[in-house]
Amino acid sequence: MSIFKSHKLYFLLILISSPTIFRTVRSHPVYYERNLNQYTDFYEQLQELLAIHKNRVASHENEVNDYPVEVIGWPKNQTFPKGQTAGVDVDSAGRVHVFHRGDVVWDAKSFDWNNVYQHQDQPPISVDSVIIFDSKTGDIQNSWGKNRFYMPHGLTIDKNNNTWLTDVALHQVFKFKPGASEPDLVLGQRFVPGNDESHFCKPTDVAVASSGKFYVSDGYCNSRILMFSPSGQLLKEFGKKDDMLVPHSLTLLENLDILCVADRENERILCYSAGLQGSSPGLLVKNFHKNLGRVFAVAARDDHLYMVQGPGIIGKHPVHGLTLSLSTKKILNSWSPVEGFVNPHDLALSPDGTSLYVVEIGENAAKKVYKFSLQKPN
Ligand SMILES: *[C@@H]1O[C@H](CO)[C@@H](O)[C@H](O)[C@H]1NC(C)=O
Ligand SMILES: *[C@@H]1O[C@H](CO)[C@@H](O)[C@H](O)[C@H]1NC(C)=O
Repeated sequence: MSIFKSHKLYFLLILISSPTIFRTVRSHPVYYERNLNQYTDFYEQLQELLAIHKNRVASHENEVNDYPVEVIGWPKNQTFPKGQTAGVDVDSAGRVHVFHRGDVVWDAKSFDWNNVYQHQDQPPISVDSVIIFDSKTGDIQNSWGKNRFYMPHGLTIDKNNNTWLTDVALHQVFKFKPGASEPDLVLGQRFVPGNDESHFCKPTDVAVASSGKFYVSDGYCNSRILMFSPSGQLLKEFGKKDDMLVPHSLTLLENLDILCVADRENERILCYSAGLQGSSPGLLVKNFHKNLGRVFAVAARDDHLYMVQGPGIIGKHPVHGLTLSLSTKKILNSWSPVEGFVNPHDLALSPDGTSLYVVEIGENAAKKVYKFSLQKPN
């Protein structure tokens, strides 16, 4: 079979297997073609990298632990939540907030070709979409957010305990003050996708600075990052020239004044100047383009950038978490829970740096919320 034909075949397989990619491909044909060429040898290269690092474990010498170890027995109820669990973050007190979809599953019928949600006539998710876990005991401490959301995606807790949520069906971003039942900030028009100043298209994540300025990754069907003032005034749009293919997750490193983006389908991480300390926001300062696999989520602390991969589009491949060095861009370690990842979707570090949490949308995943310890062995 000629190279040309085999690529055609891959193309077909991808169209069948992934509705999201199908829609993405329609709007980004050129980038997709380029990306396709990388798939043939990508997994071989990744396997080599993983083989080199697989014997590494946490060591006393490491300044910061790059090898997260699963905490067995956390959370208490391992069958809850049951469905697609999309977002996770940790507040300053260490409590773990997750955003899940109840019985709703994102499938090929969820959206039409124009990214319009197809089940608007049905009621929103009737169970509490946000669940708050105790970081130590794994007990559920609280939950909220029933009868409001349609397709939960990103969850971010800022330094003032505000909860920021994105819903890809609603094409909106919400901010809730602690304990509030109504949002005090809503961006985007309900159920209406778009790419201008007041519309998003399946926005994926939010990152919030101490000053209250925030960033939105937008999203499955746009290729841009938006920076807003604390009250929601658009300050800057950037990243468009870098042809991102599903900017899926954000992590803000305020000490370095950079914002890193999981550019999911381009299998890379892009870091931009955040523009919080006088620099101009949106200058590309780092490009981790080294066959990382589909990068679903990123979180960073000091020089360590943690990420989770998604499953390969072509065939079945093991899915890993990876720890990268921000300064050298090297892969420091790879990690996964005892029973393996299926389709990890988001990850978050506790502010004290001792734990890392991962949530899963994989149907057959052993758990939907994982806790990993970053503590050095005694
Ligand atoms: C765990 O959660 C499930 C719902 O997914 C519920 O049916 C079950 O009763 C819970 N178990 C415990 C011990 O709370
Ligand atoms: C955030 O919430 C936690 C838990 O209720 C509390 O301990 C902490 O003081 C709060 N932080 C702020 C800045 O309000």
